[in-house]
Amino acid sequence: MTDDVDTQDVLGPDIFKRQEHHDFFARLRDQDPVHWHVDSNGIGFWSLTKHADVQMANRDAKRFIVSEGFTLIDIDPDDLQGAAMREMLPGMDPPQHTRYRRIVNRGFTPRTLRLLEGHLALKAKTVLDNVVERGSCDFVEDVAAELPLQAIAELVGVPDEDRKRVFAWSNQLTGIDDPEYEGDLEHGMLVSAEMISYADGLRQDRELNPRDDIITKLTNTTLDEGEGLTEAEFGMFFLLLVVAGNETTRNATAHGMRALIESPDQMQKLREDPSAARIERAVEEILRWSSPIHYFRRTAAMDIELRGKTIRQGDRVVLWYASANRDAEAFPDPFMFDVDRTPNDHVAFGGGGPHFCLGANLARLELRLIFTELVTRMPDARFDGEVEMLRSNFVAGIKHMPIRWG
Ligand code: HEM
Repeated sequence: MTDDVDTQDVLGPDIFKRQEHHDFFARLRDQDPVHWHVDSNGIGFWSLTKHADVQMANRDAKRFIVSEGFTLIDIDPDDLQGAAMREMLPGMDPPQHTRYRRIVNRGFTPRTLRLLEGHLALKAKTVLDNVVERGSCDFVEDVAAELPLQAIAELVGVPDEDRKRVFAWSNQLTGIDDPEYEGDLEHGMLVSAEMISYADGLRQDRELNPRDDIITKLTNTTLDEGEGLTEAEFGMFFLLLVVAGNETTRNATAHGMRALIESPDQMQKLREDPSAARIERAVEEILRWSSPIHYFRRTAAMDIELRGKTIRQGDRVVLWYASANRDAEAFPDPFMFDVDRTPNDHVAFGGGGPHFCLGANLARLELRLIFTELVTRMPDARFDGEVEMLRSNFVAGIKHMPIRWG
């Protein structure tokens, strides 16, 4: 690896804000696909940048574990935050993960999604109704942010009168690294505690008044021991859903619209044929193109040989989904945004391992509904100011995107 690549600080959120990460990863895939990196804080980690390697590590939960940390922040089980991270799905290894995942999968069945679809289709229409006459808006705040929040609130069964409060909390947990949001860890912990306590209120209510919703399904006291989530587990699960399902889908929507504005020929194709099948294909390409989560991290549970390198037991290993999704060995012409791309084996939701995104089908549904509205009602959208990126190495975020149409 040349020095000039080595000295770049991929951990630094600025490279992502400046959108230089794709060039950086292209060079790594080419020159040193399993790369040992030490960042400016002295933290060392392996970067896996090839699609095949990311998929392999993602599926091998025995050799690549998560309980030491699923981001570049190590989990210290002796501090409060570390202990909390191990109580969340992404920080659990088997057998704890297997049991927990079996329970929460019950909340995300095809039947649940079918029940949600009608509501969400109406919400997607309303989101557009609210802006379309204006002729211009901040796409992120006025369009992309709305549906993901509504979807989680619907799924969980948050009453209408509480939604504003839940939305405000979830926005406060956004973009901790970015100065605009004035996010800091302490405030984040405070907000998290409020959300957990709110979730417990919902749980207690369903104990008295069971309903056909996810809270009742996951916590019902008539379930055998070990078959439902405990009080503490449910609070953490609620927090996880809001954090995992909100920003990701918002950013996929914003990146997708940006890509369609930048490629009018692709927008035109969808405008001519906005059938469900065509939009579904486009959504997969939007996911590949945007990789809303840049990476997840694992830790080597034993020594592992990969492409001539020895990853030592205990080493941090970063699976760069953003890089795997632009690997020419998996995607012909990877830097081309092609709404008809097939096959499209992207890893935006993970590489098919046990931690595969729990909300993948919900996110796909939301994206299909919102893009169906967008390509039919705003097909001539264009930029109306600067697209502002989030300063984060974890979330591929767009903060503001002024557009106009008509
Ligand atoms: C475009 C939107 C989304 C993207 C790109 C995305 C991406 C991801 C990724 C990359 C992972 C880790 C996979 C792995 O390491 O193997 C993940 C896990 C997860 N996601 Fe999503 N996600 C999205 C939307 C959602 C939604 C809507 C929800 C819930 C309402 C959700 C809930 C979760 C949960 C609970 C996990 C942890 C699963 C586990 O560790 O077993 N996500 N997601």
